[in-house]
Amino acid sequence: MNEAERLKQQIKEMSEYCNAQGIADALRIPVEAVQAILEGKDVEIEKTQNDDQPIIQLKTTTKTRFVRNNIVTAISPGGGKGNTTLLTSLAAAAAINVPNKRPVAILDLAEFPKVPTAYGIRYLEVLENPDILWPSISTWDDSMGYSIDTCAIPHPDLENLYIVPGVMVADNYHELDLNKILKVIELLQRQFEMLFIDLPKNFFLAEKLLPFMDTVLITVTPEYGSLEGVVQLLPTLNKVNKIEQSFIVFNRVGYPGFFDTQECQEMLKNMMKQMPERVGSLPETDSIIKYLNSGKMETVILKEPHSAFAKEVNHILNQLCPHWSIAKPSSGSSDGIASIFKKLLGKKEA
Ligand SMILES: Nc1ncnc2c1ncn2[C@@H]1O[C@H](COP(=O)(O)OP(=O)(O)OP(=O)(O)O)[C@@H](O)[C@H]1O
Ligand SMILES: [Mg+2]
Repeated sequence: MNEAERLKQQIKEMSEYCNAQGIADALRIPVEAVQAILEGKDVEIEKTQNDDQPIIQLKTTTKTRFVRNNIVTAISPGGGKGNTTLLTSLAAAAAINVPNKRPVAILDLAEFPKVPTAYGIRYLEVLENPDILWPSISTWDDSMGYSIDTCAIPHPDLENLYIVPGVMVADNYHELDLNKILKVIELLQRQFEMLFIDLPKNFFLAEKLLPFMDTVLITVTPEYGSLEGVVQLLPTLNKVNKIEQSFIVFNRVGYPGFFDTQECQEMLKNMMKQMPERVGSLPETDSIIKYLNSGKMETVILKEPHSAFAKEVNHILNQLCPHWSIAKPSSGSSDGIASIFKKLLGKKEA
């Protein structure tokens, strides 16, 4: 099946759970073209590439460019690989580096929300305080419209970063269905310059949400099972037509016993014909758990902006948003010459 046929097939599959406008927004193609495909009309598809975003144009209709804000998610072969760590770090870095301090949001669709936790917000303390209402999209009221002011938690230190929890407790997931989630995503992506989405563990639901993502980061730990898992993930990414927008991030590089980045690259190359490009390798660091457990609302991105971890997060963000001016790490890799010099001179990395 060529790319055009695959796109038509995808539109037909998406129409089972999404209306034409939603599909058009998700795929960035004119709604008239989606309707034409659903009505079985013959259309010709041309894929072009501009600097920032790939755009698909359908020749039956007037050529319209649908450019919308960037939605980034992370997926991993198996749990606990670092999706939440990666996305919360990227969202904080994005809020710091976004031009004109435009607003950035992170939507937490996990059954056990850990995005607020990653920013040091203690859920149980919030619950115990009757004056604070913990917002979540499971309780958003359709009839009142979805308002960000009442449903997002502003980050304590980054005024342009908003945290949008999906549920309060896992049981609230009964209140969330795909349609509601899609409505919320549509609203958020219109209001925010960039939207990060922490997907649910439920793979069936996650798979249905993937078509709406612009960039899919595959979080992989440098060990055999996780590398093999990338191969196990590829058919899903292929099915949702996201192979080209998927990129690998190695996480916890340097953990005792794990492979190094080069070994991982070579193993992956031997495992698959065409592997997604790698956009970063996050080092193992004690700092994440240190801040998480400190009880203070602190994170490695804010407290240790010059650490190897924070630099690599910026390096990844730079590739996601090449048109932003993000301070480049002093070296491409996380432990380059500059940090070796600092160690030789006895200076500690901040
Ligand atoms: N680079 C790192 N260095 C050290 N610890 C890390 C690193 N990345 C993640 N961790 C730790 O690994 C654990 C799992 O990370 P995280 O919660 O981000 O994974 P996840 O993929 O979101 O997990 P889940 O599948 O439960 O959603 C956390 O305790 C986190 O602090
Ligand atoms: Mg997680």
